[in-house]
Amino acid sequence: RVAELAPHGRQMAPYACQRRTPLLHSNQPLTEALETLAEEAGFSGSEGRSLAFTRAASVLKALPGRLGALEELGSLPGIGEHSRRVIQDVLEDGVCTEVERVKLSERYRTMKLFTKIFGVGVRTASRWYQEGLRTLLDLQERNTKLTRQQQAGLRHYGDLNTPVERSEAESTSRAVQEAVKRFLPGASVTLAGGFRRGKPRGHDVDLLLTHPEEGREVGLLSRVVSWLDSQGLILYQHSQENSYGLREGPEPLGGRDVMDRFERCFSIFRLEVQGGPGAARGWKAVRVDLVVAPVSQFPFALLGWTGSRHFERELRRFASRERKMVLNSHALYDTRQNLFLPAASEEEIFQHLGLEYVPPAQRNA
Ligand code: TTP
Ligand code: MN
Ligand code: MN
Ligand code: MN
Repeated sequence: RVAELAPHGRQMAPYACQRRTPLLHSNQPLTEALETLAEEAGFSGSEGRSLAFTRAASVLKALPGRLGALEELGSLPGIGEHSRRVIQDVLEDGVCTEVERVKLSERYRTMKLFTKIFGVGVRTASRWYQEGLRTLLDLQERNTKLTRQQQAGLRHYGDLNTPVERSEAESTSRAVQEAVKRFLPGASVTLAGGFRRGKPRGHDVDLLLTHPEEGREVGLLSRVVSWLDSQGLILYQHSQENSYGLREGPEPLGGRDVMDRFERCFSIFRLEVQGGPGAARGWKAVRVDLVVAPVSQFPFALLGWTGSRHFERELRRFASRERKMVLNSHALYDTRQNLFLPAASEEEIFQHLGLEYVPPAQRNA
C-alpha cells in the first residue's frame, strides 16, 4: 500500500452518494478519457464494463486536486486495472491510444451520431449501423422506418444538439409556470436535472410539477400541455399516464430502473430566442421533460430527477446493499421493517438512509 505517499490516497468513500462531487474538478483529461471508454462500452452493450469506467471517472471527479502520478491512486476505491492503464497513459503521454482509436473508429462515430437523435437508443443505432447506415442522410435516402419521435428528433437535430443555456431553461420554466397558474393556482414548477446541480448548460430542461394538496395535481399535465400547444409552443410531445400505485409495493419498479411511473410528458418546445444559433429564425427547438408528482412523493421525485445518473444509481445501490431498502423516484421502502419511510424533504431521505446530506451542486458524480 502506498497510501502514505499519496496526497489523494486518503480514505474515499466507496459509493458516489457518500462523496461530494462538484461540477468543476481538476482531472478533466482523465475523466474525459474514461468516459469515452464508458460510452463505447455502452455502445457495445457491455453494461458492466461501461459502469466500471464510469465509476473510475466518478472517483477522480471527487478528488480535491489534480492527480499527478499513478501511485497517488493507491487506496482509491473502484479503479480497476484497465482504468489504471488509461490513467497512466494520459498522465505520461497526455493521451491514451486506446481512447484515441475509439474516437476515430467508424462504429463509435456513427453510434454517437445516431444516438444523438431524440428517440434513438443504443439498440436502434446499433441495428442501423449493422445495416450499413452511416449518416443522417442515409436514414432519409434509404427510407429508414422512423417513429414519430425519431422524425421530430431528426427534424430538429441541429437545435437539439446545441446546448440549452440556463437563461433558456429559465424562460422555459416561466412559460410552463404561466400555463400551470391558469389551471391550478398554487401548483409549483421546479427546475431539476443538471441545471439544479449548477450546470450552466444542458441537453434538456427537466421540470417537476406538484401541488401542496395531494391529488390536486391529477389531470394538470394534459391541460398545461394542450394550452402550451394551442399557443404554438410545442413542436412535439408524447405523454404518459401515471401508472404508480403505492399499494402494489416497490417490487415492480425495482431499485435499478431509472424509469419511473409518474405522469409525464417528453416534449420539444419552440422557444423564442434573441441570440445564439436560432437568432435568425427567432426561435429554437428545446427538449423539455415535464413530470408531475403528488406532493407526498415530491422529495423522492426531486431527488430522482436531479441526478446525476451515476449519483442516482449509486444511491439506489447503496440503499439496497447497505440498508436493505428500495429507493426509487416515488418512495423509500425498508424491506427489514416492511414499511415505507415517508419524507417531506430530500434531507429526510438522506437521513433515512443514514447518509450525510449531499446538496445538488455536489451530486455531479
Ligand atoms: P437527464 O435530463 O437525462 O440528465 P441531466 O439533466 O443530468 O443532464 P443534461 O440534461 O444536461 O444532459 O436526466 C435527469 C435526471 O432524471 C437523471 O438523474 C435521471 C432522471 N430520470 C428519471 O428519474 N427517470 C427517467 O425516466 C428519466 C429519463 C430520467
Ligand atoms: Mn479490461
Ligand atoms: Mn436534463
Ligand atoms: Mn431529462
